[in-house]
Amino acid sequence: MTQAMYEEGLAYAESNFLDENAPHLHVDKRLIREKFNMDGKKVLDFGCGMGGMSLWYATNFKCEVHGIDIDRHHIKIANDLKAKHDTKNVTFEVRNVLDQPLEGKYDFIVLNDVAEHIQLPILKAIFSALSKNLAPGGGIYVSYPPWRSPYASHVQHVVGIPWCQFMPEGVLLNRIEKNNRPIVGEEESDLLQAYKGLNHLTHDKLIGTLNGSGLRPVYRKSHSFFNKFGPLKNTSLRIFPFDFLITKEFLLLKKTE
Ligand SMILES: C[S@@+](CC[C@H](N)C(=O)[O-])C[C@H]1O[C@@H](n2cnc3c(N)ncnc32)[C@H](O)[C@@H]1O
Repeated sequence: MTQAMYEEGLAYAESNFLDENAPHLHVDKRLIREKFNMDGKKVLDFGCGMGGMSLWYATNFKCEVHGIDIDRHHIKIANDLKAKHDTKNVTFEVRNVLDQPLEGKYDFIVLNDVAEHIQLPILKAIFSALSKNLAPGGGIYVSYPPWRSPYASHVQHVVGIPWCQFMPEGVLLNRIEKNNRPIVGEEESDLLQAYKGLNHLTHDKLIGTLNGSGLRPVYRKSHSFFNKFGPLKNTSLRIFPFDFLITKEFLLLKKTE
């Protein structure tokens, strides 16, 4: 990773950590504060990336955070950010749970902006593996931008056109190639690779990956523009065509009894 990439990654992760209004995270932060109290909990930040959210959990709650990711570049930045902010209650490691299963039990396992980046058969295997690491009463919290959203699971940020996922594939690829640039990751090191890694995640596909995992959804919130208007703050508008306006899905999974 070049020094410029490293600095860009560190600045991005630091803003995700410190900025309550970070563009794609403010809804996540608000919902977590409202719905979950992580005090006294053991938290696994699965796919923690460069650690911005792990540090946010660690400093906003009295919890122990373990961040894992398959990308060495991301974990290097996460560890440097932890050192910079002298945060004791978080550890980071490079780990693929399918090769190296986790031994500990966690009260709260978070996949924040991760599930849409993992091919579905692998995601299914990961959910089965993680269900074995849940402490009694624990839950897995998944948040992701669904494929049909205006953000197209992040592709809109590259192309600059909302709902660009519905353009002909050739035209879309052409636009991504035109705007392509290196990114921090070792596993996915440019925007085109990151696009190709997306699994076009929808709620039904995610539920499909839970088959046989011993997990079931117990809570779902679909966030859309409508939630900006006071009386509709807590509404999840999922009927056609409003489902195309959902920008983020939040799910809590628990073990089936
Ligand atoms: C978009 S980033 C999100 C990072 C972080 N959760 C956040 O909210 O800032 C997705 C992360 O998932 C990681 N990832 C992808 N597949 C993974 C896997 N099989 N195991 C662990 N991490 C994975 C990627 O390396 C990347 O860091």
